[in-house]
Amino acid sequence: MLVAIDVGTSKVVTLIGEVTRDGALTIIGKGTPAATGLKKGVVINIDQTVASIRSAIERAERLSGYKLESAFVGVGGSHVESQNSRGAVAVSGPRREVSREDIERATEVARAVTIPSNREVLHVLPRGFVVDGQEGVKDPLGMSAIRLEVETHIVHASATAVQNLTKCVQLSEVRIDELVASSLAAGEAVLSATERELGVAVADLGAGTTDLALFMDGSPLHTAVLPIGGHNVTNDVAIGLKTNLIAAEEMKMLRHGRSVTRRG
Ligand SMILES: Nc1ncnc2c1ncn2[C@@H]1O[C@H](COP(=O)(O)OP(=O)(O)O)[C@@H](O)[C@H]1O
Ligand SMILES: [Mg+2]
Repeated sequence: MLVAIDVGTSKVVTLIGEVTRDGALTIIGKGTPAATGLKKGVVINIDQTVASIRSAIERAERLSGYKLESAFVGVGGSHVESQNSRGAVAVSGPRREVSREDIERATEVARAVTIPSNREVLHVLPRGFVVDGQEGVKDPLGMSAIRLEVETHIVHASATAVQNLTKCVQLSEVRIDELVASSLAAGEAVLSATERELGVAVADLGAGTTDLALFMDGSPLHTAVLPIGGHNVTNDVAIGLKTNLIAAEEMKMLRHGRSVTRRG
């Protein structure tokens, strides 16, 4: 069983998936209640957010008949930022072959880049390796070399925003398996390996934010969250037509936005 919780600005999504023996994933439970308590992807009211998460969990549990204990949780909000960092080490060991330990040490060096203490590191993803000057190595394990360099993509987020989200999930009586940047999760969900290899950008338009992830040579190159989303369109429609937000939202979605296919 795999469980995911996505706490968005307008709705919370809980999905329960069953992994079959051949590796395919079937969704067996789903809860998508409206969310209150968030602004642009960030928790601004604990009680309301907990109530939304609990309701999403209950619905998904009822549909699937599965009691959920832990989940992967998406992190959004424009406080999520990324940077790329390189780390280099001398290959150790008498045979001068790249070992798992060398890869870990190089990744640690890349991670040691100065990130302010009010930031929490979500991901340190190796994008590629340089083995004795040879670029573009995907898996250096076992290669003969003197010097190993790794290029990493580091995603970090505001520590307090992450703590508040974590608190809301824990108060909903769910353990967190892992925190995942929503933009990378969106890429993982909709992209093929070829697209990632050729280079592609994914934009997940939410209500308050737009998650962005750029992939190149198979790995994430840049991730960011823009503080604009569908709410901005609704707001503009309301101002332009001098109507209220509910009428503007209905006009946009049900009457004139209907032909747009939704994937998110
Ligand atoms: N058919 C549509 N046409 C235009 N906008 C849409 C349509 N369906 C949904 N939206 C907009 O998408 C936004 C909701 O996106 P969603 O990913 O569900 O939000 P979040 O994850 O941020 O809570 C809302 O602003 C909504 O108006
Ligand atoms: Mg969304």
